[in-house]
Amino acid sequence: MGIREIIGMAISSKATSPAKGIVVTVPMLVLAASGAAIFFFFLLSSLSTCSCPPGGVTRVSEPAGTGGSVAVSVGERISTSQDDVEWVRDQIRLNGLHMQDNVLRKGINPRTRAQQLQDLIDFKGISHYEGPNSDNHTALPCPGELLVEEHHSNYGEPWAGGRDVFEFLAESVHLKPNSHVLEIGCGTLRVGLHFIRHLNPGHFHCLERDELSLMVAFRYELPSQGLLHKRPLIVKGEDMDFTKFGSEVMYDLIYASAVFLHMPDKLVWVGLERLASKLKPHDGRIFVSHNIKFCSRLGGEECTKRLKNLGLEYLGKHTHDSLLFNHYEIWFEFRRFKA
Ligand SMILES: C[S@@+](CC[C@H](N)C(=O)[O-])C[C@H]1O[C@@H](n2cnc3c(N)ncnc32)[C@H](O)[C@@H]1O
Repeated sequence: MGIREIIGMAISSKATSPAKGIVVTVPMLVLAASGAAIFFFFLLSSLSTCSCPPGGVTRVSEPAGTGGSVAVSVGERISTSQDDVEWVRDQIRLNGLHMQDNVLRKGINPRTRAQQLQDLIDFKGISHYEGPNSDNHTALPCPGELLVEEHHSNYGEPWAGGRDVFEFLAESVHLKPNSHVLEIGCGTLRVGLHFIRHLNPGHFHCLERDELSLMVAFRYELPSQGLLHKRPLIVKGEDMDFTKFGSEVMYDLIYASAVFLHMPDKLVWVGLERLASKLKPHDGRIFVSHNIKFCSRLGGEECTKRLKNLGLEYLGKHTHDSLLFNHYEIWFEFRRFKA
């Protein structure tokens, strides 16, 4: 029943009531009770002191063993808050922790990646099983070269910087689990893993040319992060051919992290031409890191004209800091101005 009906009922029942003494009708009681409830609601909300982080993020614990918490998409915020920073500082202080040299001590055996790999070769991996049985107990046997995580320092290091890039891009486009994202040159998923974790299954796409990186992604990173169920669509290719991603999908975000600077300008333009119609008009964004020499080498006016012919426009340049190290990244933002 709407507020109008309640008021209407109150007026009409009053009109038909006998005019003796003070008569309190049922509709009037309902009105009075609702008014009181609304009053107390506002009173209580104004009295409550909430130190919630901006953006209304709710943090929930991940399953045991994953070592952290994850922000669910209740609000806009994805990046680490000042409260989070204070919390971790407190934990270090309360535990009396100080940075130590990474040297051999009881129970701890620091080794280089090369030594780790040699151990894996010498001792047949970390298998306790002997002989032909040794291959029968691992559902997805991973090459030793990948198990030692050399790829975390192959390119785009530090590996942790992937999180910074994710946070910046995700918040820039107000990423939601049902957003569609395409990365050009996702490498070993340093950035992509964070998107895949956040997005619905099948919503992360990537075109990558390097076979070793793709092996790392499929055989080590996705399984070890428990993300196989997210079924990212990762395709091997180097000529900006996006046909395998289907003709239906419209992207909320297309990004190239440290990639366009390694490509011939002509190939970048081929990519933009093919992708312009796959970007959601107005709200969708293309982000390119480091520089846009494919554009500036043409000259400002010529570049603007060429972008305009594709229905694209340049919106501006941004930087974002890293959470963990003294570094900032530069990003160039584009959108599709017409459908
Ligand atoms: C510096 S890495 C960056 C990887 C990832 N974007 C990151 O930030 O961690 C550049 C990546 O672009 C890929 N790449 C370069 N040219 C490409 C092309 N034409 N098509 C697809 N991928 C390409 C490389 O193989 C490499 O994985």
